[in-house]
Amino acid sequence: MLIAAVVAVAFVASLPWWLPGRVVALRVRVFARINGDEGIPVPGDLVGVERFREVYSHPAAGGRSRGAALSDLFWYWLSPGPEVHQEHLEAGERYEAVARATRGLLAVPRAEAEELTRRCVARALRDAPRRVRLRDLMMPVWAEFYYELVFGEPCPRAARDLIVGNAADVVTALKGCGLRHMDRRHRLTRYLAGELPRVRRPLPAGLSEQECALYLQGTFFNTAVVQMAEATAHLLLALARHPDVQDRARTGDPAYLDQVIAETLRRYPLFGVAHRVTTGDIDLDERTTIPAGSVLCFNYPEFHRAGFADPDRFDPDRWAAGPAAREANHIPFGVAANRPCPAWRLAPITLRAAAREVLRGHVLRSSAAHTRSLPSRGPCLLLPRDAPGRPGPALLRMRLRDRWEDVWRGLVQLVLGTYMVWDARRLRPCERHFATTPGDRPEGAGCPR
Ligand code: HEM
Repeated sequence: MLIAAVVAVAFVASLPWWLPGRVVALRVRVFARINGDEGIPVPGDLVGVERFREVYSHPAAGGRSRGAALSDLFWYWLSPGPEVHQEHLEAGERYEAVARATRGLLAVPRAEAEELTRRCVARALRDAPRRVRLRDLMMPVWAEFYYELVFGEPCPRAARDLIVGNAADVVTALKGCGLRHMDRRHRLTRYLAGELPRVRRPLPAGLSEQECALYLQGTFFNTAVVQMAEATAHLLLALARHPDVQDRARTGDPAYLDQVIAETLRRYPLFGVAHRVTTGDIDLDERTTIPAGSVLCFNYPEFHRAGFADPDRFDPDRWAAGPAAREANHIPFGVAANRPCPAWRLAPITLRAAAREVLRGHVLRSSAAHTRSLPSRGPCLLLPRDAPGRPGPALLRMRLRDRWEDVWRGLVQLVLGTYMVWDARRLRPCERHFATTPGDRPEGAGCPR
């Protein structure tokens, strides 16, 4: 009896050390089973690392959504409005109109962007507790930032809560940590539909009012808020886990902070896989062709590991060499020739300003695991710089708690993730969209302005 009890306790106590890894492997197998094996992994057997950029930049690697089962998943997670989201639109007039509107809204002078970031971060830090989850801390910051960027006025509290409710729901579902709550998302769409006349730059021509609201929601209040909250959480967690890097970033050469950002985005790229559907044949050599209609899955983490010594080590000094770094396998914002991120200029400016503002008054410490998908949302201690105290016991508790949360969360992700992949395959939002609206779509009545 006693032996059985000891074995049971030992088994339970060992769970955090082996169960999360097994659950991740099982999730990958379940997803692959449900999704089928339609994708060509790049880099992979067919296209090596050395031709990754060439194939990504190929004019025939241009199809975005239509014809890939994988698209149904992304459309499901990013609903409502994936059909007007810049990221998912096929090339054409509608895409050009949307991309032009996004460029217009993102064109902010550097000093203005830095000052707005500083204000939004300072407000969030004012009431922040000592123990935070970095993604939760940062999401209201970027909700306020992007509200002001879009509307040209400070973000009211009620609007901020709607934006955070929407963005948190999207990213939680994407990571399999919770199901979608469409009511939260529709509430934001209704709010935005009523505010269109106040948008400070022209909205995309040819979209109906409802589509304009969905465009703003998808690009600025999903993608921008989620990506920036995740990127800042990664950056601050990396600083929290590497005190020496943090000290140098706070007191040293400002260029060093840029190196830390480059290394953070290399080690923890926000995209796992970006896919494209080929619109024509891609000839690799005399005997090998990737046929039109293939789904190419560009794997960012794999590409970012290739060609770096000890690639899993977090080492900002890799980037000290400067210009040579441009040749490295490092594409945090995508490739210039194939729909790169429209915020590739603004995002690093604001990331840097946010980190500077946090480091100005606080010391960061964390003992939580740091993974690319960051389902833990980045547990961290936020200690006042003038009285940091002794965080040792708190860090020990954080480590134990993080390990145990990993066990529970892994199981939740397995169940909910599997359900959502199945549900997306059942609903097929992308496939149905293209089946019911082939060719040129009728133009909407137009947005205000
Ligand atoms: C550090 C933060 C960010 C990172 C690392 C990032 C990364 C990326 C990457 C890698 C892509 C290309 C994916 C592909 O090839 O399919 C992309 C596309 C995109 N990103 Fe970002 N992003 C960030 C922030 C933002 C922000 C703030 C916005 C706000 C508007 C944004 C909007 C978009 C859009 C609309 C696309 C699709 C572009 C197109 O297909 O024309 N991103 N992003």
